[in-house]
Formats: sequence, C-alpha cells, structure tokens
Amino acid sequence: MQVIILPSARDVALYAADCVVDVIDARTNPVLGLATGSTPIALYKELVGRYQSKQVSFRHTTSFNLDEYIGIADSHEQSYRTFMNRHLFDAIDIIATNTHVPLAESQDAGTLKKSAQDYEASIQQAGGIDLQILGIGLNGHIGFNEPTSSFASRTRIKTLSESTVVANKRFFKDGEFQPHLALTMGIGTILDSRAVLLMATGKAKAEAVKAMIEGPLSAMCPASALQLHETATIVLDEEAASLL
Ligand code: GLP
Repeated sequence: MQVIILPSARDVALYAADCVVDVIDARTNPVLGLATGSTPIALYKELVGRYQSKQVSFRHTTSFNLDEYIGIADSHEQSYRTFMNRHLFDAIDIIATNTHVPLAESQDAGTLKKSAQDYEASIQQAGGIDLQILGIGLNGHIGFNEPTSSFASRTRIKTLSESTVVANKRFFKDGEFQPHLALTMGIGTILDSRAVLLMATGKAKAEAVKAMIEGPLSAMCPASALQLHETATIVLDEEAASLL
C-alpha cells in the first residue's frame, strides 16, 4: 500500500486524473472502475477539462461503477447512474453502452441476484478492471461494503448501515423514499482490480483513513482490505492524513 499526502483536495484530484490518463494512454481498451460520492467530483471535473482540451479521449474506455441504490430508477435524480451521467459520461466521448452501473431498480431478490452475477461476468468479459477509483465512507466502507463485509465478497445486495443512511440523507428531499439497500461490488471484486486508487479528503475522513492504513486488517474497517493489495495507492490531502 502506497500512501501519498498532498497539500490540498485539488492536488488529490489532479493526481488521480494523472493516474486515470496514464491508464488510458497505456492500454488499448482501458477498463476503469469508478466511484460516486462528493470526493471524486473534482476528479471528474478535471477529466472533463482534459477531454475538452483534447488531452485525453475515452472512446475506447469501458467503465464499471462500484455500486447503485436498490429500488430507485436509473433516471432518479439520486441514482448513481444519474450522478455518473451528470458528472462525467455526458460530458466526454465514452460510448454509453460501455459504461456500466449495477442494475438495481428491481426490488425482487432473484432479479437482483442475477443482476449481480451478470455484473461480475461483464467485468470478466471486459478483461478485468485496470484501475479502480475509490472513496471511503466515514465508517471505512468502500463501495457499499459496510463494516462486517467479507474480504472475499463479490457483487451482491448489501444493507446500508445506519451511519451511511444518515450521511447520505442530505441528498434526498424531506419525506422522499431513501434506499436502505444497495447492489455493490464486493471487496473481493475490488481486490481483483489490477490497481486501486483510493482518494480521501477533509478532516471528517481522518479516523477512517487512520483505521484503513494503521489499523489491523479487519472486517470492521472494510478499506483495511486494501493493505492486501499489491498496487493500492491511497492519496490524501493533509486534513484526511492528519491522524496518521
Ligand atoms: C457512498 C459511496 C462510496 C463513497 C462514500 C463516501 O456511500 N457508496 O463509494 O466512497 O459514499 O462519499 P463522499 O466522497 O461523499 O464522502
């Protein structure tokens, strides 16, 4: 695990953008693993800027997102599909059918299980993920792999922890249905990526970052699984690194 501490959140986004562009330049058919949340927004903004100034093309890139809420439509304002279209896909030249976000609109367990299996198969068919971008939850989750998730887990249904529901409440209107379930890549799926880049910024993430890097390997801190990955890079701003 390589840990890089940079002065600001902007530097973290620029560093991550360089990593993404390096993978795109190095591979004929690059496969990116992408994340949602507020942390990678600055990265996506930077990538859109580089695309607009013709420094990079996503024409041959395939993407797989980590997770999606269960029970809301793709077109829902708060779906992760909408998030990705808005912050990245609609503004670059990636081919829409090459972008993958878990299909999780159904509330039927059998349909969701099949969707999870198909997602794993699609990742395999694409040749596996070259670079997986990650954020980290306040409780150390990656994707929606909440504490107690198995390090061997694959794409599946997960119940969101109370603290995650509370943290994400700000995105939903008062009284609006807020999903408590998600379809998420597993920790095993994430560890299969050829490289992983976890971004964390801001003081609120400092405890989770410390547990991930300096704590024991523990299912109580899902991100600590990255200690097992040979090419995992953790890129932090000074605030997120303040307890190391
Ligand atoms: C969500 C996502 C995670 C993300 C986390 C942190 O729960 N499923 O992939 O890392 O939030 O988000 P933020 O960057 O907004 O703190």
